[in-house]
Amino acid sequence: MPGPFSGLSVKLIATITLVILAVEVAIYLPSVGNYRQSWLNDRLRIGIVAARVLDTVPDVMNIPAMLTDNLLNSAGAIAIVYRRNGSSQLIELDEAPMPREAITIDMRQTDYPTLIMGALDTLSHGGDRVIRILGNSDGAGDADAEVEVLMNETPLHDDLIAYSWNIALLSLLLAVLIAGVLYILVSRLLIVPIRRLTENMVAYRMNPENAALIIAPTPRRDEIGIVENELAAMETDIFSMLRQRRHLADLGLAVAKINHDLRNTLTSAQMLSDQVVALDDPKIQRLAPRLLHSIDKAVAFAQSVLDYGRQSGTPPKPVPVDLRALIDESAIDAGLRSHPDIAFANEIPDDVTVRLDPEQLARVFVNLMKNAREALEAMPDKSHGLKVTAAFAKTPTGYTISIADNGPGLPPRARDNLFVAFEGSARAGGTGLGLAIARELVAAHGGTLGYTPLTPGTRFDITLPAATLLA
Ligand SMILES: Nc1ncnc2c1ncn2[C@@H]1O[C@H](COP(=O)(O)OP(=O)(O)O)[C@@H](O)[C@H]1O
Ligand SMILES: [Mg+2]
Repeated sequence: MPGPFSGLSVKLIATITLVILAVEVAIYLPSVGNYRQSWLNDRLRIGIVAARVLDTVPDVMNIPAMLTDNLLNSAGAIAIVYRRNGSSQLIELDEAPMPREAITIDMRQTDYPTLIMGALDTLSHGGDRVIRILGNSDGAGDADAEVEVLMNETPLHDDLIAYSWNIALLSLLLAVLIAGVLYILVSRLLIVPIRRLTENMVAYRMNPENAALIIAPTPRRDEIGIVENELAAMETDIFSMLRQRRHLADLGLAVAKINHDLRNTLTSAQMLSDQVVALDDPKIQRLAPRLLHSIDKAVAFAQSVLDYGRQSGTPPKPVPVDLRALIDESAIDAGLRSHPDIAFANEIPDDVTVRLDPEQLARVFVNLMKNAREALEAMPDKSHGLKVTAAFAKTPTGYTISIADNGPGLPPRARDNLFVAFEGSARAGGTGLGLAIARELVAAHGGTLGYTPLTPGTRFDITLPAATLLA
């Protein structure tokens, strides 16, 4: 279970903060460029004013040094140059500083890349240079008048640094604030409900038979509300299904116990009647075989029900199998070999090898062949060549193994409950398990078991996918 600062919420806060910071950097770059530009423009303007003042003086050389120094200091400049109509005037500080590296900034270039690159250049190269600010003295009729202000870069650099710090602090504050607000919103809307769902699922899975753990949906109508409702419905279903399954399992257990006792009792009766048959009272000699037969049938019934209950759902273990040989063996187990009245024809080609579980498949064949034999044996007229046939045919998606007979066909009761356990039997002493089990086993191999009526007779087709056919 994720704690308060792990999982979804941390990823969320981190992502939001990163996005906000990225947006702020994108805004910062042009704005720092603009800031520097207007800072320089202010200085240039002072320079222009100073130049205009100078322009009114006929002879610059005669102005007292103190006056020009004042003028320059108020502009923060080292020197100001004023050019017009080919002539130029210069005033500079009395004690001009040592010449240093100088860079020129032309204020007439105002595109953003230049502004941003300029700001980054000032920020990174510190303030020890001299800058030459170049611009037009934009007075009327002075189109070609140019002013140049020379000054130290230090104050510009310091101001830019301070500006950047302010922005950085503000950005951080804003990012934290927005991330916080968004986080609170998102966590109320999403994270808390999702955590509630996760916790409920984990708890319910541990103990799905506890109805108190079924989630109570909130009245929300959005996706989370739908999930809550669906989860509640699913948990309710699982709860009732589990309860039903337990009841069925209990019932099955009871049936198995009763059946077990019944079989034991019947087995003792069987042994007793074996001895009774041995008595040579003519009445007993007449009745005893019928008694014996009934008891034998009852024992067989109890045994097959027990087998069905015990039959575990082990998945098939496919191995390469010679199909023709397997059919021959199954025919022997089904009592079809050298039968006095019934002929058995194995029409499977010699060279068919399949990859299937031989034990499970043999059970399918034996069940089908036994049914055919029982149906044929029950026919009153056995004169017209009774026959059971096993055949093989390829289909577009695989192949079919069919077991056919020329008997009476399925009785209506068997047809209506085809493949339903305990329901499909139309035979005294039958359980109705043979076909149901056969179908289950075929399905476990990815195949289908189908029934086709013949005139006369019955055919069952086992259709299997091509992947299980080796040759
Ligand atoms: N080849 C067949 N010919 C005629 N009837 C059949 C054939 N196979 C199955 N049946 C009928 O289907 C019923 C169900 O068969 P099955 O599921 O094997 O149960 P059981 O053999 O225990 O009765 C049988 O009782 C029988 O009446
Ligand atoms: Mg049967």
